[in-house]
Amino acid sequence: MERTRFVLKGDIAYSLDPTTIRTVSDGYLVCLDGKSAGVFDALPEQYAALPLLDYTGRLILPGLVDLHVHAPQYTYRALGMDLELLEWLETNTFPEERRFADLDYAARSYGKFVDDLVHSPNTRACIFATCHTDATLLLMDLLDQSGLVTMVGRVNMDRNCSDIIREESADFSLSETRRWVENAHFAHSTPIFTPRFVPTCSDEVLAGLGRLQRETGLPVQSHLSENFGEIAWVKELCPWSAFYGDVYDRFGLFGGEGCPTIMAHCVHSTPEETARMAQKGVFIAHCPQSNTNIASGIAPVRRYLDLGIPMGLGSDVAGGAILSIFRAMADAVQVSKLRWRLVDQGLKPLSAAEAFWLGTAGGGAFFGQVGSFAPGYELDAIVVDDSRLATVRPFTVEERLERCIYLSEDRDITAKFCQGRQLF
Ligand code: GUN
Ligand code: FE
Repeated sequence: MERTRFVLKGDIAYSLDPTTIRTVSDGYLVCLDGKSAGVFDALPEQYAALPLLDYTGRLILPGLVDLHVHAPQYTYRALGMDLELLEWLETNTFPEERRFADLDYAARSYGKFVDDLVHSPNTRACIFATCHTDATLLLMDLLDQSGLVTMVGRVNMDRNCSDIIREESADFSLSETRRWVENAHFAHSTPIFTPRFVPTCSDEVLAGLGRLQRETGLPVQSHLSENFGEIAWVKELCPWSAFYGDVYDRFGLFGGEGCPTIMAHCVHSTPEETARMAQKGVFIAHCPQSNTNIASGIAPVRRYLDLGIPMGLGSDVAGGAILSIFRAMADAVQVSKLRWRLVDQGLKPLSAAEAFWLGTAGGGAFFGQVGSFAPGYELDAIVVDDSRLATVRPFTVEERLERCIYLSEDRDITAKFCQGRQLF
């Protein structure tokens, strides 16, 4: 249902900044033309005539943002976690992604992924598809019809992977990328250039993507400094590079003016790589569950926050098993504590408020003014019925939010809005 001018009533919470959550108990969130006009204790007179959706007693929160997820890997999530990244890709990932050459398989698999994403707390996602152009367009069409706002990438991979999935040449990879971009005309699902990662992308493909990026101004996403074996391999493949991220940068795929970029993981980034990301405004997608499952390590998130590097959370399904970014928030807090305890006591663990900010406004910034209810922000909201979580004692709205991060399930989401459109 299109309903872009309305009022939501309920217990509202959103981040004002990385450490501060504003809560309004029994408050009003006003949506005008898909954007927030503000959150109020009492409904201002000028909005009194708008339709009121009454969610009294429920939590109203910004929709969550997944900055990194692999749609084709949804089929086998929670399997095959006994390997590290490079073996995991060859054993589990590439044989599955190969199936997306079959459009019927892609339609069934992506249909399930999109359906589950709609019913999750997430309203935005940056998504990797596969190297198959037509299946990627099919995924974008399904996402577009769902009303979610997404960026989706057709994956480039023309070297160093088994020939069941490797693209036949750099020319083919680039001409298919162009065909994909020329056909990706959807209202709510837009293309993002997606070189898989340096080991599987020839210099020719990276250079061609850099040219396409400058021509189109479209954003970029990839993987960076996730795993020790991967980092050593990049050094071997590109001995001329100063550090891993320098490879993307040499080809114009690493942030800066006119090139919005997300790099997933950054678990083992060197000080030089970190400084370059800060300088060029590269977004980091922190994926704590994946980093745990495939034993990549623990990213120094506190250091990135202190340096002001833009950052959000990623599920990284199927490195991660769970789509919900509530789960990524809890995992981010937990791994930050392990890092503080075991690795570096100079890096304070994350608070729940910081994890909430990362999963809403932090990642939302990649989409513009997204992830908050401050006036002018695009109105993405979820309504959470947390009555299932009640105990004999009362909780403040902020405490209820904190408990949702750890305890809520998709079935507790009773309504969802994206850019003011009600999805259910
Ligand atoms: N690096 C290259 N491809 C992948 C992938 O599919 N998942 C993860 N976690 N890392 C990658
Ligand atoms: Fe990934």
